[in-house]
Amino acid sequence: YLPQELIAKKRDGGTLTSEEINFLVHGMTNGAVTDAQISSFAMAVFFRGMEMDERVALTLAMRDSGDVLDWSHLDGPALDKHSTGGVGDNLSLMLAPIVAACGGYVPMISGRGLGHTGGTLDKMDSIPGYTTQPDNETFRKVTEACGCAIIGQTASLAPADKRFYGIRDVTATVESIDLITASILSKKLAAGLDGLVLDVKSGSGAFMPSHEQSEALAESLVAVANGAGTKTSALLTDMNEVLGHAAGNAVEVATAVEFLTGEAQDPRVREITLALCADMLVLGGLAPEAESLAKVAEALDSGKAAEKFSEMVTQLGGPGDFVDRYQDHLPTAPIVIDVPALATGTVSAMDTRAIGNAVVALGGGRTNPADPIDHAVGLTHITDVGALISKGDPLARVLARDEATAQEAARRVTAAINLGDAPASRANVYRRLAP
Ligand code: URA
Repeated sequence: YLPQELIAKKRDGGTLTSEEINFLVHGMTNGAVTDAQISSFAMAVFFRGMEMDERVALTLAMRDSGDVLDWSHLDGPALDKHSTGGVGDNLSLMLAPIVAACGGYVPMISGRGLGHTGGTLDKMDSIPGYTTQPDNETFRKVTEACGCAIIGQTASLAPADKRFYGIRDVTATVESIDLITASILSKKLAAGLDGLVLDVKSGSGAFMPSHEQSEALAESLVAVANGAGTKTSALLTDMNEVLGHAAGNAVEVATAVEFLTGEAQDPRVREITLALCADMLVLGGLAPEAESLAKVAEALDSGKAAEKFSEMVTQLGGPGDFVDRYQDHLPTAPIVIDVPALATGTVSAMDTRAIGNAVVALGGGRTNPADPIDHAVGLTHITDVGALISKGDPLARVLARDEATAQEAARRVTAAINLGDAPASRANVYRRLAP
């Protein structure tokens, strides 16, 4: 094949065969296809789209561009969750140990924050001593011993996507459901999973700009993942407000520990976390659907999940007493201010993306992928949509490195929270998409 012939075929609305897609992905991995060609191919797909068979072929080719892990020697299913990204979304930290406590294995390869959303990897990096980049052997051993290990992306996993995404990012071709589907799934499926559950966000803090597009992404992800041979379901969940009441890195680790020990549990977080965990048990054959929710609730409420989390943190190099003394171990910010409401009313809407960007502006996220982040900063005590607020009540608490960034974050929070009449009605889980 010639790359330009395949690009022309897609440009003119043709359907590529698996062999043609394999050829292009091979060239992305070994450098035979140039950046210009990859960029043109991405734009052709952006406008012309891909058939289901093409999306499956692209996903499989990118998955197979590097290492594919194998967990078939374990005595339970390898399961994972992927979220399309949110604000205050620390569910992975609770979900992995809950599923591990139910007999599943969760080899969770997570990412850094992207845009206004937080990343699981950045959160775990706030635990002193915890290695988010262990060697393969350690990753395997900890997953086997604890049932879960939350680590970072390695260079050997789906390298074709790494190059492809880097080019899409700077050529206005990220926003293609076909390409997003293949990108997300190639990385997750390279982890060698028996089952995958997707948490696709919808609302003001979601990656996709409308509910319809979030729904279309969920449908595409479920169809392609199952088409690629991995049992996969999805929940379409609400991101019209911060999930939980904290956004940042160390603060989200703290709320995850409080959730696991039962010290404090936000009801929305509990509902969505347990629903995702229950789906994972069903996909992995660990419980029938009718019993799955009770089983995950027991794993959490008995404290078994908190024990699993503690084991994982210790085995990956974190403090042995982290769960009991997380406040002593996590970094804290020197400046703490409350953001007062300027009027009385009901919180009618929240610009969740703007709240996420306020955390980025505090230094808790990145504007450049190479930037370091400040794990201590963030927001806590963030109000709920629907809350009744009197003038002067706190809308959120800002944890900042200095006075200037604290004031800037306070301005952003004030602008992002609408005080008005009653909020629009909404659900926590909008829809479940079965395998
Ligand atoms: N996240 C990914 O990993 N890939 C995309 O294409 C978009 C978001």
